[in-house]
Amino acid sequence: MTAVFANKVVLVTGASGGIGRAVALAFAKEGARLVLAARSADRLAQVEREVRSVGGEALSAPTDVTSPEAVTALVKAATDRFGRIDVLVNNAGIGKVGGVEEESFADDVRDTLQASLFGMVDVTQRVLPLMRRQRTGAIVNMSSVMGRKAFARFGSYAIVMHAVSAFSDSLRQEVAGSGIRVSVIHPGLTATELLREAKEDEMPPPFRHMTPLSPDDVGRAVVAAVRHGKRRVVLPRMAGALLLGEALSPRIGDLIAAALAKRPIARALGMSDGRTYHEVLRRQAGTTGTTAG
Ligand SMILES: NC(=O)c1ccc[n+]([C@@H]2O[C@H](COP(=O)([O-])OP(=O)(O)OC[C@H]3O[C@@H](n4cnc5c(N)ncnc54)[C@H](OP(=O)(O)O)[C@@H]3O)[C@@H](O)[C@H]2O)c1
Repeated sequence: MTAVFANKVVLVTGASGGIGRAVALAFAKEGARLVLAARSADRLAQVEREVRSVGGEALSAPTDVTSPEAVTALVKAATDRFGRIDVLVNNAGIGKVGGVEEESFADDVRDTLQASLFGMVDVTQRVLPLMRRQRTGAIVNMSSVMGRKAFARFGSYAIVMHAVSAFSDSLRQEVAGSGIRVSVIHPGLTATELLREAKEDEMPPPFRHMTPLSPDDVGRAVVAAVRHGKRRVVLPRMAGALLLGEALSPRIGDLIAAALAKRPIARALGMSDGRTYHEVLRRQAGTTGTTAG
């Protein structure tokens, strides 16, 4: 542990599980005080206990980020308890799988925009005046590798993750010089319940053989991003090559995505150790007793 985050107040949305829980625990291990937000009060209470068990202090604030009243109440609860917010991690979100021709596609875009983008915009707008008064703060927005390169059957999710990336880029330049820093994180496939509804044989080809990151990998990356003031973090490292290929030409990006769909290539590029997303989730469910996708 270093002193950088000792007693800092870190608000994490989507903290009831997956990446948000891991982010909260990673900051708690650094001595930060946590404000935990998500809809499920039971799961938040469990994460609060875990934060305490690593010696941290936490306030659970059951919140639906799509409700402006709930977001106002969240920020009030945080400031009533701690008086400040040093780090905001905008992580709450959902993800749907489905092709553009499917009837539900437009609804999937709307629902994902609501939870993963407008929730983020609202929380950010409520926290920014406080950070401006403090003249210091860090905002971390959770995007995805798909915030720079869309994959087939992930259009609704990729649209919103691109929007999160653009929102972060605009915000970063708007607050430049104010003492507030903005980071955007682009993780690859991660072993959480985000895609719990996706059937194994419906996973988009590049994901079929990919071994997911652990949420703890992403949690540590978020802490490091704030510590070092990183503007953009892509993980795992190989995903950076995919995004570079895509930036050079969509043809190269598509070729890399198609190559990743082949197990030996995914292995050779270090994106697969043989375990798939569903296998990892089944194993996790076996150890925690929760249901996996
Ligand atoms: N898993 C991946 O492969 C992956 C990869 C890249 C980026 N991401 C991003 O990482 C973030 C976290 O996802 P995850 O993978 O950890 O999935 P997850 O395990 O499903 O967690 C999502 C979190 O968001 C919360 N949430 C959802 N809707 C909410 C709402 N309206 N208000 C408040 N909280 C809400 C959920 O809690 P409640 O249900 O209790 O509200 C939960 O805590 C998402 O933004 C996702 O896009 C995930």
